[in-house]
Amino acid sequence: MWSNLVVKLILLTGLINSIYCQSPPRVVCYYDSRSSLKEGIGKVLPSDILPAISMCTHLVYGYAGIKAEDFKVAPLISNEELDPNNGLYRQITSIKTQYPNLKVLLSVGGDADGNSPDKYLALLESSTARIAFTNSVNVILKQFNFDGLDLAFQFPKMKPKKVRSTIGSIWHGFKQTIGAAGKPVDENSEAHKNQFTSLVVELKNSFRIDNYQLGITVLPNVNATLYLDVPSIKNYVDFVTIAAFDVYTPARNPKEADYVAPTLSVTDRNVEENVDFAATYLIANGLAGTQIVVGLPTFGRAWKIEKDATITGAPPVAANGPAPEAVQTRTQGLYSYPEICNMLLNDQNVNLKGEHAPLRRVPDPTKRYGTYAFRLPDANGGYGVWVGYEDPESAGNKASFVKGKGLGGVAVFDLSTEDIRGSCTGGQIKFPILQKIKEKLK
Ligand SMILES: *[C@@H]1O[C@H](CO)[C@@H](O)[C@H](O)[C@H]1NC(C)=O
Repeated sequence: MWSNLVVKLILLTGLINSIYCQSPPRVVCYYDSRSSLKEGIGKVLPSDILPAISMCTHLVYGYAGIKAEDFKVAPLISNEELDPNNGLYRQITSIKTQYPNLKVLLSVGGDADGNSPDKYLALLESSTARIAFTNSVNVILKQFNFDGLDLAFQFPKMKPKKVRSTIGSIWHGFKQTIGAAGKPVDENSEAHKNQFTSLVVELKNSFRIDNYQLGITVLPNVNATLYLDVPSIKNYVDFVTIAAFDVYTPARNPKEADYVAPTLSVTDRNVEENVDFAATYLIANGLAGTQIVVGLPTFGRAWKIEKDATITGAPPVAANGPAPEAVQTRTQGLYSYPEICNMLLNDQNVNLKGEHAPLRRVPDPTKRYGTYAFRLPDANGGYGVWVGYEDPESAGNKASFVKGKGLGGVAVFDLSTEDIRGSCTGGQIKFPILQKIKEKLK
C-alpha cells in the first residue's frame, strides 16, 4: 500500500518534471584519459580540467573498453585507473564533491579500444555476452560512484568516399586504390541493429534502481541509419550524442582536405554528412529534439598541401597526407585548438618563413561549414598546411544552431585539446570554446 503510493508519487513527479521543467541544454564535457599519459604540455590530468567544470552539466570519462575474452567492461590504459583511492576513475568522480549537480558518466568504446575490434559485434550477437557486459557495467558504475554510461559503441565505419573527379586529372591513379564501392559496411547490420536495441533495453532496465543515465554516442563515420532503431530505443536512452566531426580526415582522405564538421549541407558534398541531416533524421524517427546532443571537436584535422592548392584555400583542396605533428598533440595530422590559434598570424610570426610562417584563418560568416586555416606551400613546394577546425566563433555558431533547432545540447570532444591555459588570449580566457558554447546556449 505504502510502496504503491510512493511509486505513484514518483511517477507523478516525473510527469510534472517533464511537462513543466524543461531541463536546460546539456553541456557534455569529455575528458580523454589518454591525455594523462602524454609528456610536456600535452599532459592533462583531471585536476587540470577543474576550471571548466562549472560550465559542464555532464563530464564523460573516455574511455573504457571491452575484454574480448569475457565481454566485461575494462580499463584501457592500465589497471591503475581502477585504484580505489587515487586512480583516474576515482579522481574524475570525486569532482562531484565540488559540483554536486554534475553528472559523471563512463564512456565505453569511443574508437579508443583498438584490440580485437570484432568484439563489439560479437558482444551484440550473444545474449550471454550482453548480460556479462551489463553486469560488469553496473559493478563498475557503483564501485566508482559514476552517474551512468555513455555507450560510444564501435560499429563498422562507412568507407571513405572517392576523391571527386572534378578536382583534376592527378587523382586518376589514386581513385583506383580506394577500392570498390558498393559493398555494404556490414552485411548483418539489420540483425546488429536489433541486438543493439536489446543491449540498450537491458542496460537501461538494469539501471533503474540506481537511476543511472544512459547515453549513446554515434561515433564519426558510423551510419546511424544502420544501427539505431530509434522508435525502439527512444524511451530507454537519456540522450544520443552525434559525434558529427571527422567527416574528412587525413587518414581516411589523404588526397583531399575538406570541411571536417559542417553544420549544414555543403554544396557538392554528400547531403547526409552534416549535423543538420543527422539531427533531422533522428527527429523524423521519433527521438525528441531535446534528446539530441551535438558533438564538436576541440582539435583540428591538418593536411599537407602541395603545389596544386588554390590560392584562396577554399576546400576541397588537393592534399598529400597528414601535416607534420605539433608539440602538444604529437600526432601527425592532428592539432589542438591552442596549437592552431598560435600558428595564426600574430606579431611574433608575421615575418617568419618556412615551418613557422603564419597560417591564414578563414572564418565562415554563413555559419554553415566551420573555420579553416591554411599556409600555401613555399617556392619549393614545402610547408603547405590546410587545417579544418572549430574555434570559439564557429563553435558558438553551432551552439546557436542547436538552440534554434531545440536540440538537447552540445558535447565537447574533448577538454584535453581545449585551450586549457588560455594561450590563445595571453592567458586571459581559459576554455574559450566551452565558454562560447555556454554563452550561446543560454
Ligand atoms: C546509411 O545507410 C542508409 C541505409 O542503407 C543509406 O541509405 C545511406 O545512404 C547511408 N548513408 C551514408 C552517408 O552512406
